[in-house]
Amino acid sequence: MEEFLDITKAASSVSEALTTRHSIREFDSRPIPENILHDIINKSLRAPSWKNSQPWKIHIVSGNQRNLLSEKLSQAAKSGQPNPATPWLESYPSDAKKRMFDLGMKIYGVAGIERKDKNARDEFMLRNFSFFGAPTAIFISSTFDLNFFIGIDLGCFLQSVLLMAREHGLGTCAQAALGAFPDVVTSQLSIPKEEKIVLGISLGYPKSESQLNSYHTPREAMENLVRFYN
Ligand SMILES: Cc1cc2nc3c(=O)[nH]c(=O)nc-3n(C[C@H](O)[C@H](O)[C@H](O)COP(=O)(O)O)c2cc1C
Repeated sequence: MEEFLDITKAASSVSEALTTRHSIREFDSRPIPENILHDIINKSLRAPSWKNSQPWKIHIVSGNQRNLLSEKLSQAAKSGQPNPATPWLESYPSDAKKRMFDLGMKIYGVAGIERKDKNARDEFMLRNFSFFGAPTAIFISSTFDLNFFIGIDLGCFLQSVLLMAREHGLGTCAQAALGAFPDVVTSQLSIPKEEKIVLGISLGYPKSESQLNSYHTPREAMENLVRFYN
């Protein structure tokens, strides 16, 4: 079942944050107070990880650096080939393909983009690199070999940030796209080469009265995915 939600109101419980969070793709440019950024990151660093190895490094980019990085990433996206630290999957099970297709159709529909209009789709994709207008981007990197379990650890941190942001009335979009040009990010932010950029998160106040922001993605029914054993 599809739903539309007002995402501009802060969540006051984990349940509320979980059930109301969805990706934001139109942000207001209002900056995020530093104490709020600190609170989100500091608490998210409580995320669990394999043997408490804490494989993450976090880079928080705002202000002028954000603008410069956005410009360079956008240029790279227009002319370069993605070169992510870990390859993106090329094939998916058919049920997932359907969900991915439905998401594309819905998002383009809400954004007023004709599916056949490749230029408009490309333009929309490029918005990833201006962080959808967000004042802050968070990059997650790691010096560890990127195996499956490191991904789970980073995912625990990622979800913590997404939920903490909801508590502060902030919106987020997790973006693999922000890991597509890791050399641009490491060079612009002078990050040591041994740190692999995995992905980024756009963070900011959701633009109100945005149809795109109010779209609450559906989920598969629990009975299709979960089995209970007694
Ligand atoms: C690891 C990961 C990578 C993602 N990469 C992108 C991305 O590059 N661009 C984007 O617009 N959304 C991206 N998303 C957002 C997903 O499309 C979104 O989470 C999914 O469709 C479910 O919708 P919801 O977040 O609104 O609940 C990513 C999400 C995750 C968890």
